[in-house]
Amino acid sequence: MPTGCIILAAGEGKRMKSALAKPLHRVCGRTLIAHVLGYVRALQPDPICVVLGVGRAAMEEALAGEGVRLAVQQQQLGTGHAVVAAADHFLDYDGDVIVTCADIPLLRPETLEALLAEHRTQGAAGTVLTAVYEDPTGYGRVVRDGSGLVTAIVEERDADDQVRAIREINAGVYVFQARHLFPALQGIGTDNAQGEYYLTDVIAALVGRGQTVAAMCAPDPREVMGINDRVQLAAAEAEARRRVCERLMLSGVTLIDPTSTYVEADAQVGEDTVIWPGTVITGQTVIGRNCTIGPHVQINSCVIGDGSVIRQGSVLVDSWFGREVAVGPYSHVRPGCVVGERARVGTCSELVRTHLGAGAKDQHFSYLGDAQVGEEANIGAGVVTCNFDGKYKHKTRIGRKAFVGSDTIIVAPVVIGDEAFTAAGSVITSDVPDGSLAIARSRQETRKDWVARRQKQS
Ligand code: UD1
Ligand code: CA
Repeated sequence: MPTGCIILAAGEGKRMKSALAKPLHRVCGRTLIAHVLGYVRALQPDPICVVLGVGRAAMEEALAGEGVRLAVQQQQLGTGHAVVAAADHFLDYDGDVIVTCADIPLLRPETLEALLAEHRTQGAAGTVLTAVYEDPTGYGRVVRDGSGLVTAIVEERDADDQVRAIREINAGVYVFQARHLFPALQGIGTDNAQGEYYLTDVIAALVGRGQTVAAMCAPDPREVMGINDRVQLAAAEAEARRRVCERLMLSGVTLIDPTSTYVEADAQVGEDTVIWPGTVITGQTVIGRNCTIGPHVQINSCVIGDGSVIRQGSVLVDSWFGREVAVGPYSHVRPGCVVGERARVGTCSELVRTHLGAGAKDQHFSYLGDAQVGEEANIGAGVVTCNFDGKYKHKTRIGRKAFVGSDTIIVAPVVIGDEAFTAAGSVITSDVPDGSLAIARSRQETRKDWVARRQKQS
């Protein structure tokens, strides 16, 4: 039996109070729509059709290259109306259709698979995913008859006290037989508190037509939470983060305090790495084994080799680190850096578009921009590359085993050769050949007994 999918994403998302379309808000670094596509794709439905409306341009951009079909709901007349907008993609289609919403990010693929299996086992025309909530406020309620069969879904706004007391809610995720879904939708009206075409009314419509409607209760109610406002967005974030932390811990990562560790869904961390509190790891970061990270470290889209130590307060962005590097405390590695194995970026240094060769040491408060530093070179305390002349950026090259004395100012473009030295406090404006020493500062003048002489004068 073929399986297709419709994702409803046309709504206004009023309660978010945002200029950004609701499906483009993020949980754990991924947009809501990306989360939904993630669990939907696990079932390999074809086609996957996303219904767009409000915020269409931004949504189209976000979905470009995703291989999904797009349908447009011109006016937001309700979830039932939104499904009808996708009907053209299912004209000669005789199979099952999964319907889900762009604001349900945390559903597990296993649960969706189980829903589809239940639908098929029951031979149902429609099957609805439900959950039992302690506080069901805001959700549609699942109404069952005396024998436990689902007869209707009633929205909270349209419910009487008795129905409101029901704690089993409609998750907003369904499987329908296409040949029953679309005809049943033709029959629904707008006689409800919002004056909308409710998809949920299809349930009673199918029952009215003598069709079988099945239901499956999600084992973990947290996975069906819907995001309507920023309070729910934060709740989903917390739940998604809890899951990521759990996954990491079960795969052998030590989190000293998972409640204050923020790791986004796409990041990977190797076995026996220890992450201290307050650490934020985002983007496509890959951290190796046996690393120590934190506390209070921020890493975005970096690769970090095995056995590295990233100390307190450091910020690492879009850069690559070999094995056994050490960074920090309080260093900033900005985009485009490559830090070779065993290299050191010590206290309070800033690097941008800089390559540090293997074993190079940059231990104390330096600024290296657009620099190429050779293997085993030593960068003294307070070294600064002047890479910007106010208009253009220029490159610095420092050779293998070079020794750049403390407080050297390097006015780029300049080359300091292999095994060359610069004297502390030098301002280097021209190239230093291999193996040479450059001294570029005024000579010290020492006035003997100057203090005593001055005292006599006064
Ligand atoms: C919906 C269900 C409710 C369920 C809840 C689960 C209906 C009528 N109600 O309520 O029973 O408990 O989800 O989270 O279906 N959308 C469109 N076009 C529209 C309206 C909505 O595409 O005209 C899309 C939205 O973008 C959203 C989804 O449908 O992704 C759900 O809409 P929303 O307004 O959030 O419905 P709820 O009030 O949460
Ligand atoms: Ca919703």
